[in-house]
Amino acid sequence: MMDHPVIVGTGLSSALGRALVERIAPAWQVVALGRTPLEGPGMTWLSMDFRDSPEVWKPAMTTWLEREKPRVAAFVHGAGLVYSDHTEATTADEWTSMLGVNLTSAFVLGKLLSPYFVEGARVVLVGSVDARYASSAGPAAGYGAAKAGLYGLVRHWAAEWGARSIRVNGVAPGALEEGSGPQSDSVRAALEPRIALRRMGRADEVASVVAFLLSDESSYMTGCWIPVDGGLNLTY
Ligand SMILES: NC(=O)c1ccc[n+]([C@@H]2O[C@H](COP(=O)([O-])OP(=O)(O)OC[C@H]3O[C@@H](n4cnc5c(N)ncnc54)[C@H](OP(=O)(O)O)[C@@H]3O)[C@@H](O)[C@H]2O)c1
Repeated sequence: MMDHPVIVGTGLSSALGRALVERIAPAWQVVALGRTPLEGPGMTWLSMDFRDSPEVWKPAMTTWLEREKPRVAAFVHGAGLVYSDHTEATTADEWTSMLGVNLTSAFVLGKLLSPYFVEGARVVLVGSVDARYASSAGPAAGYGAAKAGLYGLVRHWAAEWGARSIRVNGVAPGALEEGSGPQSDSVRAALEPRIALRRMGRADEVASVVAFLLSDESSYMTGCWIPVDGGLNLTY
């Protein structure tokens, strides 16, 4: 197990994260970052809350990095937080929390992990269709803005780190059955006709694309965003 490549991940407690870990776990040593304790063979969990300022949670990461001096082969950022409300009702704290969990944590972790990335490491960020579209499930401008920030991060990191053969890509899920996706019957009824496949997606259908981007099967892809949304908004 100790010889397996190291993957550092956020958001691994979500249905998407669990589906990903289930898919890749036997081949990787997983370091999970977040609030929910995760355990299993080859799994290390570091407690951190990305709503806090990075100054609060960074020491846990740097202490672990300096102690273990890992050779990090992959980083997956799947942590997400959405407060779905009108802009007028969204507080400054909610805005800051959405930026912290969705975007700032990705940037700060990428910066901390960079010296430990092996040549050819893979980075995958989980965005959302909300980066491009306002959802009929309800307004969430702060969430959409944070996910749009990830779009830029993928493109810029891919350019910056390409000379080290580090590949950086993103997946943009549409509406999922699990997690923070639209759950009420009325929202589903409004949404599903706008999805070409006429159904919401499953977490494992996104996890399989993340696993593809982590694998050698995508060896000539970097700076790409892959929509995994069943063909949302293809018609007008
Ligand atoms: N569900 C959908 O329909 C949908 C659609 C588009 C995109 N996405 C994206 O897909 C990913 C998974 O979505 P989901 O709906 O399955 O998520 P979810 O069930 O709401 O889980 C959110 C994940 O983010 C982590 N997280 C949240 N707040 C955190 C905090 N303060 N500090 C550290 N970690 C935090 C959680 O880890 P802890 O348990 O450790 O807090 C958890 O693993 C997210 O990036 C989400 O934005 C989801």
